Amino acid sequence: MLAFRRTTRWRTRAASALAAGAAFFAPWAAAGADSVEAFLDRHWDHPLAPQGPPPATFSERAASFDPADCAACHPARHRQWRESRHAHAMGPGVLGQLRAMPPRRAESCLRCHAPLGEQRQSLARALGWPRADDAAPLPGYVPADLHARGLACPACHVREHTRYGPPAQNRLPSAQAPHDGFVAQPAYRDSRFCRSCHQFAPDGRRLNGKLLENTYEQWRQSRYADAGVSCQDCHMPGQSHRWPGIHEPDMVRRAVQSRLAQRRGADRWHVTGKITNAGAGHKLPTYLTAQLWAELVLLDGDDAVATLARQPIGWKADLSLRNEAFDTRLAPDGTVTLSAALDPARARDRRAALRLRVAPQEFYERFFAARLENGGLPVRARRDLARALDAAKSTRFTLTLKTVALGMADGRP
Ligand code: HEC
Ligand code: HEC
Ligand code: HEC
Ligand code: HEC
Ligand code: HEC
Repeated sequence: MLAFRRTTRWRTRAASALAAGAAFFAPWAAAGADSVEAFLDRHWDHPLAPQGPPPATFSERAASFDPADCAACHPARHRQWRESRHAHAMGPGVLGQLRAMPPRRAESCLRCHAPLGEQRQSLARALGWPRADDAAPLPGYVPADLHARGLACPACHVREHTRYGPPAQNRLPSAQAPHDGFVAQPAYRDSRFCRSCHQFAPDGRRLNGKLLENTYEQWRQSRYADAGVSCQDCHMPGQSHRWPGIHEPDMVRRAVQSRLAQRRGADRWHVTGKITNAGAGHKLPTYLTAQLWAELVLLDGDDAVATLARQPIGWKADLSLRNEAFDTRLAPDGTVTLSAALDPARARDRRAALRLRVAPQEFYERFFAARLENGGLPVRARRDLARALDAAKSTRFTLTLKTVALGMADGRP
């Protein structure tokens, strides 16, 4: 169970927020699991409606939905968020596709990539969508490119101009209480907060019976859920807004534990490497967009002169998402073992290394390349997808987990 300090100040909010439902204002100290569900149902009630005019008492900056304005008073959160994938959730790979889609279909993507009603409005204007009210001017609190800010601060924190956040841990000086303070909600410390976008519903798309996106359920079935270790505990330590994941070498290093051992056989050197998912609270990787390869290589100096063994860790499908090639993802505490036997003469004066190669966007590399090859795209969509393809390829990296000087343990080969 989570423990909260009872220090939250309750401020009366504008009538518009009260009209949104008294249930929001039940004291959080008495809040049980059901009130978290009730809050989240309303919070992520897609498509999110535009929020209407801000209270007259708000300054222009306090009313603004531009993350750069939140930054004036929450600079650390803004700095972290700006470096996160959430801030880039409307990058060229997404926008390039939206440009080539009818509005109805494009809207279905916004739910996770740019969920605010005001983001739909700014996107509709930017892309010249034909509905009559799509040409209407944007409200003053909405910057013209709000859609391009991706998963922006207000998407997670603001409804009807009321700020919602976790029960306060680091109290900010609130002399002027710029946006009428905030409403504390334990839901922000709960894994279910992330479920809305990181879990498909049971009737969502499947491959070989398995939901394409199933992260929350993988977590729920893991020992981490039993131990009360939430998504936020691993992905937002100290409430950080960086959300590191598979794109970050340090985070992947934290996900794995590895061993590399050797032993002398009758006439061969045996090398065995093991990699365990010891630190991801779900499968490694969690879905089919990333691909990893575990490798045992022979080193001469620092150069890899041969690959002794190699195994994919991932869930691979063709671009139609109908045919599975393999599913070798590591469930929490799952292990992959690689082994090789060498001629002692080949091992002499050499080292072996256990490596992990990571392609965080392997599926998208293939997908963007195919879209570009097929042609028939508007010019700007083409340009965006070409940039997205380069960006996807450049996310690849290799981690060396362990090295061992061959023969040193048992005498020279
Ligand atoms: C002019 C300064 C200012 C601006 C601009 C501002 N905030 Fe705040 N914010 C504060 C202060 C001060 C507090 C602490 C209020 C309190 O303790 O009652 C706060 C509290 C919060 C909280 C609650 C923190 C917690 O501990 O749960 C959230 C969430 C929040 N702001 C989000 C935002 C977002 C999102 C934006 C931009 C859309 C924003 N704020 C813009 C000053 C500001
Ligand atoms: C409104 C939808 C939404 C919510 C809510 C949300 N996310 Fe995300 N998240 C996304 C999208 C979309 C991306 C991918 C952005 C991109 O790369 O274009 C993402 C990316 C991530 C990544 C980076 C993954 C990588 O590939 O490196 C992590 C980690 C993550 N989210 C964790 C969380 C956690 C933890 C929470 C809950 C506190 C959360 N998210 C809530 C939509 C959401
Ligand atoms: C249920 C939430 C959800 C919906 C709906 C959704 N996405 Fe995503 N999307 C994600 C998450 C989470 C990621 C990050 C993980 C990954 O790389 O697959 C992502 C990643 C992506 C990426 C790769 C990262 C990037 O920024 O280039 C693209 C492209 C993308 N989505 C396009 C779309 C399009 C187009 C639609 C609508 C047809 C869509 N998505 C609908 C959640 C969603
Ligand atoms: C994906 C949803 C999401 C987005 C986007 C997001 N936040 Fe948060 N924010 C959270 C969650 C979840 C917490 C609670 C984390 C915890 O307590 O472990 C939080 C906590 C906070 C807090 C309270 C902690 C503190 O610093 O006092 C503030 C303030 C805040 N966010 C401001 C912002 C600002 C400003 C932005 C944009 C630059 C932003 N958030 C973007 C989900 C989000
Ligand atoms: C015990 C710590 C831990 C917990 C709990 C945890 N994660 Fe992760 N997560 C990681 C690590 C480490 C990685 C990097 C390795 C990887 O990609 O699996 C990661 C990666 C990710 C990624 C990147 C995509 C990918 O292919 O793996 C997403 C998205 C993500 N986590 C979301 C979540 C969500 C949502 C929750 C809660 C339902 C959650 N995580 C719970 C540690 C954790």
